[in-house]
Amino acid sequence: MSLIDDRLYIDPELVQFYDLENDGGADLDYCIAFAEGALSVLDLGCGTGQVAVAVASGRYVTGVDPAGAMLDVARRRPGGEGVTWVEGDARHVRLGQKFDLVLLTGHAFQVFLTAEDQQAVLATVASHLAPEGRFIFDSRNPAAREWLEWVPEKSQRTVAHPSLGTVRAWNDAAWDEASGVVTYDTFYEAANGRRIHAESKIAFPERNRLAGMLDEAGLAVDRWLGDWHGGPWTPTSREIIPIGRPR
Ligand SMILES: C[S@@+](CC[C@H](N)C(=O)[O-])C[C@H]1O[C@@H](n2cnc3c(N)ncnc32)[C@H](O)[C@@H]1O
Repeated sequence: MSLIDDRLYIDPELVQFYDLENDGGADLDYCIAFAEGALSVLDLGCGTGQVAVAVASGRYVTGVDPAGAMLDVARRRPGGEGVTWVEGDARHVRLGQKFDLVLLTGHAFQVFLTAEDQQAVLATVASHLAPEGRFIFDSRNPAAREWLEWVPEKSQRTVAHPSLGTVRAWNDAAWDEASGVVTYDTFYEAANGRRIHAESKIAFPERNRLAGMLDEAGLAVDRWLGDWHGGPWTPTSREIIPIGRPR
């Protein structure tokens, strides 16, 4: 029994698509540069380990994720042997170690749907930061309403799968104003018509709410970025990216 139920991350067949669809971008480049000077890094919600492995050279790096199928990809990734992988839940894990840098990338923060779970993850960040340590994570800005692009008409794409060949992919999504949670579907359809599907939920907390939760966790924010190119946050930014340290 997995700790989580999102098939996108626990179904090995769906997990095969993760790296095909997410192959590193500005977030990866920013984190590699940001890790400069850090000797130890904790990657919470590390998934298939793209970031953890990219920053591992010359550093002690630990990646935590509850999804065994994602961690299987991470372990097999070239360089994966240089990272300590922990199958665990970012809300509760306590490693008994402090880190110079704590990351949650790829919008992993958004998988936590309730204020209680979000606060629990931030407590985990705080409890693993060295006194001079820093944290960074990303959450999509609800004001940018990115989920409006995750509908069949706008999300049709093809993915070149190594054994299934060209696979058609699309999404569908619905926003629930009251909870601030988006429920989205991911569909993959192989040439033979076989379809695989996951229904996922992610939260879109507003920046002010995030600021309050970070404060409550004992974390101080030095800068709010609005994109992974280092641009400052504005109310219409696509991303909310706090960078900070223990208070
Ligand atoms: C969108 S992926 C991001 C993966 C990775 N950080 C990246 O940048 O590619 C979200 C990840 O959060 C993980 N996740 C879900 N629930 C979690 C939890 N309770 N604690 C830690 N990670 C969790 C999922 O298994 C998945 O690997």
